[in-house]
Amino acid sequence: MGHPPVPNPGIRVVSAAGSPVTPGSASSGRGPGPGPGSGGGSTLLTGIGELTTNVPGGPGTGDGDPTGLVTDAVVLLDGGRVAWAGPAREARDAVAHALDGRAPDATVDVGGRAVIPGFVDSHTHLVFAGDRAAEFEARMAGRPYEAGGIRSTVAATRAAPDDVLRAGLARHLGEAARQGTTTVEVKSGYGLTVADEERAVRLAREATPEVTFLGAHVVPAEYAGRADAYVDLVCGDMLAACAPHARWVDVFCETGAFTPEQSRRVLEAGAAAGLGVRVHANQLGPGEGVRLAVGLGAAAVDHCTYLIDADVAALAGSWSRAAPDTAPGTGATSGAEAVAGTVATLLPGVEFSTRQPYPDARRLLDAGAVVALASDCNPGSSYTSSMPLCVALAVREMRMTVAEAVWSATAGGALALRRDDVGHLAPGARADVVLLDAPSRVHLAYRPGVPLVAAVWKDGVRLLPR
Ligand code: NIG
Ligand code: FE
Repeated sequence: MGHPPVPNPGIRVVSAAGSPVTPGSASSGRGPGPGPGSGGGSTLLTGIGELTTNVPGGPGTGDGDPTGLVTDAVVLLDGGRVAWAGPAREARDAVAHALDGRAPDATVDVGGRAVIPGFVDSHTHLVFAGDRAAEFEARMAGRPYEAGGIRSTVAATRAAPDDVLRAGLARHLGEAARQGTTTVEVKSGYGLTVADEERAVRLAREATPEVTFLGAHVVPAEYAGRADAYVDLVCGDMLAACAPHARWVDVFCETGAFTPEQSRRVLEAGAAAGLGVRVHANQLGPGEGVRLAVGLGAAAVDHCTYLIDADVAALAGSWSRAAPDTAPGTGATSGAEAVAGTVATLLPGVEFSTRQPYPDARRLLDAGAVVALASDCNPGSSYTSSMPLCVALAVREMRMTVAEAVWSATAGGALALRRDDVGHLAPGARADVVLLDAPSRVHLAYRPGVPLVAAVWKDGVRLLPR
């Protein structure tokens, strides 16, 4: 490596207007203040000790490495996209070619630190009010987690004005951005009336294009004993009001929430309204949800804690339509063939916070399933927005390798959202880039709880530090 790591070296802006900046100065918000070394123009990141591209076979990568790791690397961002990524030794010609001989607008020497694609958090519930700290405290004292706790957040959310929900969403998204999340999915599901669900997806849509309609989260109290009538509402007026703001439909298929038959109705109605399918299933016990999701061609089925062999086989088999060079484990995130299957999205923050057994990631990976990691950030089962924590838990508790966990939190999340423009750093991909204050990505698991995100670029604009 040409650039040995330096303790807290800061970001040295080698050529740009403005004074040098130091990581860690951002305290709140996610405002896109351009700052030195960023903007819609071009930024050359040099001195990258270890670059995760998630592009197998890209310049400077090792044979058969799905994470496309490059040491002593350079990344060029231009016009909001990655223009080139590869080894420093090839950079001079490649950068000159990519910029048609122009000099980059800014060059930033990152001093030997590690760079990864921005995290893709494909599962959150961030439109809510209130918290459930007392429920968490009681759970830590021995009370089990139950799906019914959702109803207390429903009451607080219904009572909250739009601005309170909007401010909470912005606060949590800012928190996520400071931890390296550059793409985030947000679900409704704490409204459970036509008006409250419509409001939730509308507010979510102000913040992200990845909006999921989860009217079928639980049966609300006013429909107790009349679950089928509630499903009629979800599939009728509620879907009609929400579909224009949403990209996805989701259902909680679980004992205490919705049966497989009810779940199928909701998902088929959503699909008929033009929404993509994703499912919460097999979180609290075994059931038919995973196979239902695969059968309906869902992009992802999330939780996957209690699986039987047929579930694992269905998840792995869902990728058999993919072309050989885009099969699971290759890390490929571009090309239509790569989006055929159903991703198993694991949410280790839930098991951490509910003291449930962690899902068996090795069983899924070894069977050839595609695994994503997401935060499930919500006030009940997993009140963390931290993708670095999810990576650390996946490595420590679920026996994923660091490479697998980082891939699953970036490229895996992109596949779970059927996005080919994020989760990897190849020419043409979105310039969503995270600089770690560490010499390697291993530190994400090795140094749990430590704020390791030194800088974040989103669409080529430096969000942090501001
Ligand atoms: O993904 N499983 C269902 N929904 C959420 C929990 C929501 C809550 O407890 O408020 C989840 O874990
Ligand atoms: Fe969830």
